[in-house]
Amino acid sequence: MVHFKKYLGNPMANSHHACQICINPKGLEELPQYIKELKKEYSCAVIISDENVFPLFGDAVIAAVNECHLRADTLILPPGEQNKNLITANFCWERLVTLGCDRNTLMIVLGGGVLTDLGGFVASTFMRGIDVIFIPTTLLGMVDAAIGGKNGINLPSGKNMIGTRYHPKLIISDPSCLESLSDHEFRSGLAEVIKYGVIDSHFFVYLEQNVSSILKRQEEKISTIIGRCSEIKTHIIEQEFQGNPQIRNILNYGHTFAHAIEGATDFKIYCHGEAVSIGMSCAALLSLKLGFVDQKFVERQDALCHKMGLPTFMSNKIPLETLMDFIKRDKKHVKGKFCLILPTELGKLSQVDHVGKEMILETLKEKQLVE
Ligand SMILES: NC(=O)c1ccc[n+]([C@@H]2O[C@H](COP(=O)([O-])OP(=O)(O)OC[C@H]3O[C@@H](n4cnc5c(N)ncnc54)[C@H](O)[C@@H]3O)[C@@H](O)[C@H]2O)c1
Repeated sequence: MVHFKKYLGNPMANSHHACQICINPKGLEELPQYIKELKKEYSCAVIISDENVFPLFGDAVIAAVNECHLRADTLILPPGEQNKNLITANFCWERLVTLGCDRNTLMIVLGGGVLTDLGGFVASTFMRGIDVIFIPTTLLGMVDAAIGGKNGINLPSGKNMIGTRYHPKLIISDPSCLESLSDHEFRSGLAEVIKYGVIDSHFFVYLEQNVSSILKRQEEKISTIIGRCSEIKTHIIEQEFQGNPQIRNILNYGHTFAHAIEGATDFKIYCHGEAVSIGMSCAALLSLKLGFVDQKFVERQDALCHKMGLPTFMSNKIPLETLMDFIKRDKKHVKGKFCLILPTELGKLSQVDHVGKEMILETLKEKQLVE
């Protein structure tokens, strides 16, 4: 295996939380060094993981913690988006108290985006915030969810409705963790990767040219895409801290539709990446209707999604009104007006305010499968 290690420095330089991202196929093996480099006297470490992930990598993380002469406690949760809620967060807080955790406890979150969102939220709120390291184990977690300091839990009325902004001390993306990931979950992560391609046209072309080696999970290609997505996301967040608060919204491309699709289907039909793929296709079609992009753009984006094994149409069993109810609750809307992130060309996304309800409905209808 080629050793590839990349430090993106301190992407959150202007925030009071410094965060370093390490992309390292020996990341788990080298975890003791990473913990020692934090140079802090921790009282103990708590590993938060799920029932699928912990059996795969839990022993390695416990051994690393013990090597740092720290007690390792574990908090193993059932997997799945349906557990990213207040009940699970409350269970975590109570368990941290029972375990005797204090302000000097180090939390290590080991898992996909559900875990980094939930674990980040719990770490940020327990005793008003304890240090946390993220070890994302899904592609989606490595390229997106773990980065940027946004965490959260869902309410029955909508996704990510409750959350904080809190950066982990360190993100360790070890691409070797992806070997056990199902094709389905791997492809799910590729949807967010394609989103970064729409943000950066050079990266889009790279993806188009490397579909087959990416799908074969060729190590060098995977490290490259994790690195590029991490760079794009941290660059956007840097701009946000430098006085451009709106810029971050472009990371939400396709997500207004995606969250509505996930919510309206109770998270049971599509995984997050599939919903994002359909959501980006909806946004591209809407953009075409508004005259911002041409048919070629829509076809090119859909073609890349299809090649990566992702859907661009949703089931026609999802009631349009339910989708609209979820879309109305999107956090970007201002004073009841629909605000959406739409492409204007490959490599350029803009926030478009006051999108008409009828046009959104028409788009949703056209993006439903015809039997
Ligand atoms: N905070 C953000 O900026 C941000 C950005 C994008 C997505 N998200 C959130 O991320 C979540 C989706 O994350 P996800 O797609 O990683 O889902 P996930 O965390 O549910 O993981 C998917 C499945 O893969 C399993 N798994 C994880 N790693 C594995 C491995 N290495 N081998 C085998 N199985 C493994 C998990 O147990 C789970 O069943 C959503 O809740 C979404 O809202 C957050």
